[in-house]
This record gives sequence, C-alpha cells and structure tokens, in this order.
Amino acid sequence: MTKKYNRTLVTSALPYANGPVHIGHLAGVYIPADIYVRYLRLKGEEVIHIGGSDEHGVPITIRAKKEGVTPQDVVDKYHAIIKKSFADFGIAFDIYSRTSSEIHKETASDFFLKLYNKGEFEEKTSEQYYDEEARMFLADRYIMGECPHCGNPNAYGDQCESCGTSLSPTDLKNPRSTISGSTPVMRETKHWYLPLDKHESWLRRWILEDHKEWKPNVYGQCKSWLDMGLQPRAVSRDLDWGVPVPLPDAQGKVLYVWFDAPIGYISNTIELLPDSWEKWWKSEDTKLVHFIGKDNIVFHCIVFPAMLKAEGSFILPENVPANEFLNLEGDKISTSRNWAVWLHEYLEDFPGQQDILRYVLTANAPETKDNDFTWKDFQARNNNELVAILGNFINRALVLTQKYFDNKVPQANELTDYDKETLEEFADVKTVVESYLNTFRFRDAQKEAMNLARIGNKYLADTEPWKVAKADMARVETILNIALQITANLAIAFEPFLPFSVKKIRQFINMENLTWDQLGRIDLLPVGHQLNASELLFSKIEDETIEKQVQKLLDTKKANEATEVKVVPQKANIAFDDFAKLDLRVGTVLECIKMPKADKLLQFLIDDGMSKRTIISGIAAWYKPEDLVGKQVCFVANLEPRKLKGVESQGMLLSVEDTDGTLSLIQPPKNVTPGSQIG
Ligand code: 2FM
Ligand code: ZN
Repeated sequence: MTKKYNRTLVTSALPYANGPVHIGHLAGVYIPADIYVRYLRLKGEEVIHIGGSDEHGVPITIRAKKEGVTPQDVVDKYHAIIKKSFADFGIAFDIYSRTSSEIHKETASDFFLKLYNKGEFEEKTSEQYYDEEARMFLADRYIMGECPHCGNPNAYGDQCESCGTSLSPTDLKNPRSTISGSTPVMRETKHWYLPLDKHESWLRRWILEDHKEWKPNVYGQCKSWLDMGLQPRAVSRDLDWGVPVPLPDAQGKVLYVWFDAPIGYISNTIELLPDSWEKWWKSEDTKLVHFIGKDNIVFHCIVFPAMLKAEGSFILPENVPANEFLNLEGDKISTSRNWAVWLHEYLEDFPGQQDILRYVLTANAPETKDNDFTWKDFQARNNNELVAILGNFINRALVLTQKYFDNKVPQANELTDYDKETLEEFADVKTVVESYLNTFRFRDAQKEAMNLARIGNKYLADTEPWKVAKADMARVETILNIALQITANLAIAFEPFLPFSVKKIRQFINMENLTWDQLGRIDLLPVGHQLNASELLFSKIEDETIEKQVQKLLDTKKANEATEVKVVPQKANIAFDDFAKLDLRVGTVLECIKMPKADKLLQFLIDDGMSKRTIISGIAAWYKPEDLVGKQVCFVANLEPRKLKGVESQGMLLSVEDTDGTLSLIQPPKNVTPGSQIG
C-alpha cells in the first residue's frame, strides 16, 4: 500500500563539528539529499531540507583539550567552516543550524522530560571508571590501557586501534586516565536507559514487514541488529559538555550525544518554522526521509524511531536511504591521517568547479557498496563525459544557432525518420529518471540524464548541420530546433545534479522557469525565442593537474609513515620459571673492534667479573667501536655460544630497537661491579 503524502521532510545527518568536511561526507549524505530535494522542488512539491552541526560528544571535548581551547571554541570554528563548504557546493538546506543553540537545548530537554514523565526510561546504577584526581567519570575514549587481545599498550576504552577489536573499558589491562594519567577506580553512577528491548516487537514489524523496500544495505543491517536482540541503551553520560539532564539529581550529567543529535532535526525545524513546524513532524501526510552514512543506520532506524514512538506524537521515517563509505585511492578516508580531499581545499585548487566533483561523486556514489574515488577517474569523467558529451553538445547547438540564426530558435520543418527516432528515444527519459530518483538510485538517474546528452551529441554528429548548411538551410533549421529542445531538456534533467552548470545553461537559453513536468517535451523553446551569448561549460583537465593532486596524497602517505608508531605486539606470556632461567649481567667493555668482512658486526671483549668473554653484536651501524671501550653493557650470560664469521660469541648484548629501527645498547644508569646480575 502506498501512502499519499503531501509534503516531504528531508534531513541530512548532522556532521560532528570537530573537523572540516570531505568528499566522503558529500558522496555519502549531502549530495544525494541535495539531488532529492532539488528534484522535489523542481516538481513543485512542498519540501524542506534540514541540516546542522552536531556539536556535542566526546571527540569534540578531546579535540578541545588537545588544542588547549574550550569545546565551544572548537564547534564555533568548525561549524562555520562546514556551513560554508556546504553552501559553496550548493547543498540547498532550508536551514543549517547547530546543536549548541538555545532552541536545541530546550527542545532536547523537553523531549527527555516528556519521556521521563511518561515513564519511558529505566533508571539504572552501574559501576564506571572514575578519575579521582580529575574528579570526573571517564568516557570510554578517555581511558587507555593494554589490549587484552594483541597487547597494544595504548588501546582505547572502546577500541584497540592496533588490532581493531571493539572493547569496553573494563577489558583493558592496566587502565589509565588520559586526563590525569592516574589509575581510574570503579564508582557507582546512575543513568537513564531507553529500553529498546521493549520496543523490539513493533520495530521488527515496522522495518522487516512494512519496509521491505528499504535499500538492502539498510534493511540487512537493521535485520541483524533485531535478530541479535535489542538491549536498553543509556541516554545520559557523565560529562560536562552537552545538554544537561533536566532533573534535580543529575548534576554533572548530560544527554548522550546520540540522544540529542537526532532531536537536532526537530529543533532546527522549529528554528526555521516556529509556527508551523508541527505540520512537518506530526502529520501523517508528511514523508520523513533521513539521509545518512552507514555508520548511522542503527541510530536512525532503531533508536530514534523508538524515541519518537515513546514520545507519542511524532511520525516515523518513511525511508532511510543510507549510503556505504567512499574510499580515497584505495584507502579508508581518515581525518586523523589527513587522508581525505577536503572540500575547502578542493575549491582552492578547482575554483568554480563544484559541479565536476558533484558529478563524479554521484557517478561513483557508494550506494550499494563501498566505492573508491581516484583522481584518474575524476579526470576521465570530466574529460570524457562532462566535456566530450554534455559540454560539447550544448556548445555546438548554441554556437551553430548563433552562427546561422542570429541566436534565435529556428523552426522545425519536416521531420525525417531519423529525427523521429531521436525524439522517441528521449521521450521516456522523464519516466526513467523519475523512477530512479524516487527510489534513491541517484547514480542511475544521473547516467540517464547523461544519456540524453549522448543522444543529442550523436544526433548532431550524424546530421552534420555544418555541412548541410551549404545546401539546405531548411534542414539546418530543423536540426538545430531539435538540438535546442534537447538542450532545454538537459537544463531540467541535470538541475538536481549540476545546479551551477544548469544555471548557466538557463542563462544561455534565456529560460529561467523550467519545471520538472516539462521534461521530455520538444516545444520548450518557442520558435523565434532569443538566446543569450554562451561560453564553454566545462574544460579539459590536464594530466599535470591530476598529478599534482596525486602527489599531494603521496606526500601525506609519506608523512604518515614517518610518524606512524609501529609497536610490535607483545609475545605470549611465559612462566616465571622460564624467566628465572635467564642469566642477565652487566660487564665492562675492554676491547671493541669492527669485524673484518662484516659491515654490521662489532666484536667485544668484555670483563664479566669472573673472566673475559667475547661477544659479537650487530650494532656497528649505530656505534664507533672506540667510543664503547670502558663503557658498561648488559648481556645474556648463559646463552649457548655460537660462531659468527668464524669467531665464537659467548652471549648476547641487550639493546633496544626504536620504532624507526634504530638500535641503542642498554647500559646501567651508573657504573656497577662487572658481573652484577640483572633481574
Ligand atoms: O556520525 C556523525 O557524524 C553524527 N554526528 C551524525 C549525527 S546524525 C543526527 F542524528 F544528528
Ligand atoms: Zn588490540
């Protein structure tokens, strides 16, 4: 059963305001949302697009600490940068606000209180890590310790970045607070939980039965969450950054960021439409659509709907067309490794060329699986599609009209069979593009729009009006009339995808008010209609330009490799008895020479307290032999002797290998009697 809707409320995930936005954000969420909204507007439908920055959460407080500023400073800075990037790329929000606004705090508090008063929460006390020096409970990210799986000594309370395992803080060995460095203690704390288990049965029905049309990646993820069984989720945290829990006994507690962020969609609608917002959130004839990335699926398909249902007066989303992730040149996009194409940097290098990126990101959108952005593909799609097909066709149609008809639309005379075939070919473009757009298949929709340009391009190439002009001007009139009608159609079909270029095309053809419903018509430009001067829409991108971008990424990779800490995983535990078998001692170097025919080896004669022994060590690259004479070293005394280059080595010097491979001998901090034992 298809519901009848009278308006569409589109939301785009609120990005965290702790860094600028990159191509992954655009491809995953904001371009698809923008295409959809522009399409609906062009159809004359009632639609609003709600966006904003997500300004709470622990990563923002961590960034603030690192930079020595307040969390508010951090979000002020990035909110402005993000907002500008979206505006620069033509993402047509009706409002782009922020969750640190007063309206949001009030809306989120009221929402919490409504659920609290209705008895929709469970109150539970649990033990959590507390930093006694800093006098605060520690969010998972503020706790570090040893990973129980791989031994990485710097694993976080929620994840080990070395082996990728998800952890909880109590899994860590030797936990320490990253705030004070002290060892945290367990302390009781009270929180409010949304009992998702109690919502499970209606969620199952609503998603698994009533929304089988959701994208397979979204439906599949929901199904696996539901099949695992839902658990109560805490909606509060012990933190001093966020919306305070509006209860008298909740000092130092704020709403969990994933509780307040989706309410941000509501607050921003209230800010936009203080008098009529309820129509958008509480009428059954409003279609609510959330555009998000795949990591947000559970929150938008399960947690937020449960919150809305618990509140009781809100509608639920009709669809959540989440995308997968976009990779960059084969690697995961990463803010901390600077592995990204930042939107503000793109515009510095490609000023005014937003549409190329919009086009490429849609052509390659990660709609059903993760996808890769490469600069080579960017160049190829620009040169072979935007320039060679779309730009070339429109330019030829306009330049020829200028040349032969003084920039006025000529009349169509008798149509040939080939003309008729061409017109038939594009007659159903509207139905096809529409069906793709309605089902969030934006890649296919854009491909179809490009096909229309392909039809036009082929038509001009086949009919060759520049040759026909020598003999038959009536025929040229017909050809150019058809080419211009196709051009006008392109100005409709591409508006959702390439708004900057379409603005220019509309200016060239002197037609500002084209609507979606006119798509497919061949009488859009009346005979005699005056066109304006035109220019090239797209230009070729040279290899050099692309190589510069690739080089920039290679430099990033190099810089990352240089700073990457390669901590070797810990070996398996050994019994104390095994350790006790080792005889480790200190000795004094009596002689040290470079071994002949062995670049890496030094030969030591060592006073071990009982006699003299020879030890060979592979540290020649880091020491001059003469500098070591008289110094004390540490060695394994009871290692079975073995011959190296014909000389017997009677032990092994202890050295430490730094993460960059440098070796340093281990030496006692002050001189001790040769033969002293280490242990
Ligand atoms: O993943 C993120 O970037 C979140 N800040 C998205 C929040 S979406 C919504 F709930 F606000
Ligand atoms: Zn690990």
